[in-house]
Amino acid sequence: MLRLILATALVIGLAATPAGAATSPKAGIVAAYTLVVPTSITNSHLQARAVIPNGVSCPKVTKTYANGRKSESAMTVRTPGATTGPAFASLRACEANLPSGLAYARVGAIGVPAKFQSKFDKIAVFGDTGCRVTTKQVQDCNSLSAWPLARNAQSVAAAKPDVVFFTGDFFYREAACPKDMLTFCGSSPPPAIPPAAGQKFAPIADTGYGWAADALIPMAPVFAAAPILVTRGNHESCFRGGNGWMMMFEIQLKPSSCAPTSAGASAPDNIAPTYSVDFPIAAGRTLRAIMVDSNGGSNREITPAWQALQKPAYQQANKLAGAQSGKESWLITHRPMFGIDPVLQIDKPDPAATASDPGVLNWTSIDQTGAALGLTSNFNLMLASHIHVAQVVQMPGQPAQLVFGNGGTLFDSTNPADYTVPAYGPLNTPAGQPIDPAYPPINQLPSYVWTKIKYGHAIFTPTAKAGGWSISQRDTTGKQFAACTATGKKFTCK
Ligand SMILES: [Fe+2]
Ligand SMILES: [Fe+2]
Repeated sequence: MLRLILATALVIGLAATPAGAATSPKAGIVAAYTLVVPTSITNSHLQARAVIPNGVSCPKVTKTYANGRKSESAMTVRTPGATTGPAFASLRACEANLPSGLAYARVGAIGVPAKFQSKFDKIAVFGDTGCRVTTKQVQDCNSLSAWPLARNAQSVAAAKPDVVFFTGDFFYREAACPKDMLTFCGSSPPPAIPPAAGQKFAPIADTGYGWAADALIPMAPVFAAAPILVTRGNHESCFRGGNGWMMMFEIQLKPSSCAPTSAGASAPDNIAPTYSVDFPIAAGRTLRAIMVDSNGGSNREITPAWQALQKPAYQQANKLAGAQSGKESWLITHRPMFGIDPVLQIDKPDPAATASDPGVLNWTSIDQTGAALGLTSNFNLMLASHIHVAQVVQMPGQPAQLVFGNGGTLFDSTNPADYTVPAYGPLNTPAGQPIDPAYPPINQLPSYVWTKIKYGHAIFTPTAKAGGWSISQRDTTGKQFAACTATGKKFTCK
């Protein structure tokens, strides 16, 4: 059904645009949204984007200023690398910076968020949202209770946030729907080039249709509600959803971004630049969101090749977080420094276990913990997702690690007993040995852990005190399931 709807939309768009002909302003726009971008892109912090069928011209942006003046400007097309081949034959993206001082903006006939507030009172946070379809695991993409992203997006929008922080992992449709699961995922667009026999991953997993199904259609309510600050997840690594990420959501598109070296081949790994955005909160109080791309790396070990890319990103983030009067810095990166993965009871003992990768390690994203070692003390809070739950982990002396991976994708485990708090510190093996001799382990246990297996999102509201936030953890209908408090580097929920 989904592909039928999309195909119809494409036909309407294309049929309405013979060369030079007038088009209806809505023709051919698949999605429109406003990204929050750093001042290196534009001083207003806002860039409008449109996703359109390939072959249709970019729409115009119509701007209405607070003083009533109106103006119109063109958008620039963003084109994926030629070697992405059939995967992105269907879609293109367009971009245009928005100026400051707007009351409204439209992309074609679609309204997009146009204000970067002078004071941010409400921040929505969520991540890990696509419908999981792999050769081994299938989520019921056709059930709103089993894959609740659209409902969650509607509730995020209903909360009327000033800005949305998306913590990564949009794209999960990495395989064709298995023939015996068609009632679950029969409408799910498959990869353009399927995985080779015996392989888990396709050379390029994502396609324009896959992105439409996993993100552009279900997230439309969020796109209309507020500007969105987006983080790249490991599901946006080049061989997974990376081509779509680069075309639609990365700040700057380079010709080499994620394009495979040749058609049909896998794309090489890369890391996007670190940047920060300052959000005014109150008189004398600024939230600095520092964005680090953690799409790569291992959950279970230190990998030297990824360390070489990742460590400089955290060194830069640490500098951006340096002390400054009134500034509160949050690290926003997809993979947590201190996150507790479920150890599935059915996996014990893990048949793939080795000495360096014991397979029962439930501190996740070890490559991040290693790369950021000694570089996290300037942050007030660390926001991530990656683990498909809502979680808080407080290590002594460290900023609280928050995980918002409950946006809609399949839970890794629904058994709370699987999320055991490790009896050993990060960068240690369960036997208490360093995972890597070059990385001194953290020989401390968490002082606080809170894990909730429930789909939803979080709403942050600043309290009157510097460094103080009140956080409402909400389900997909917008009903609060936990109330949390942040004070400086500490975070607790009940
Ligand atoms: Fe995820
Ligand atoms: Fe992830």
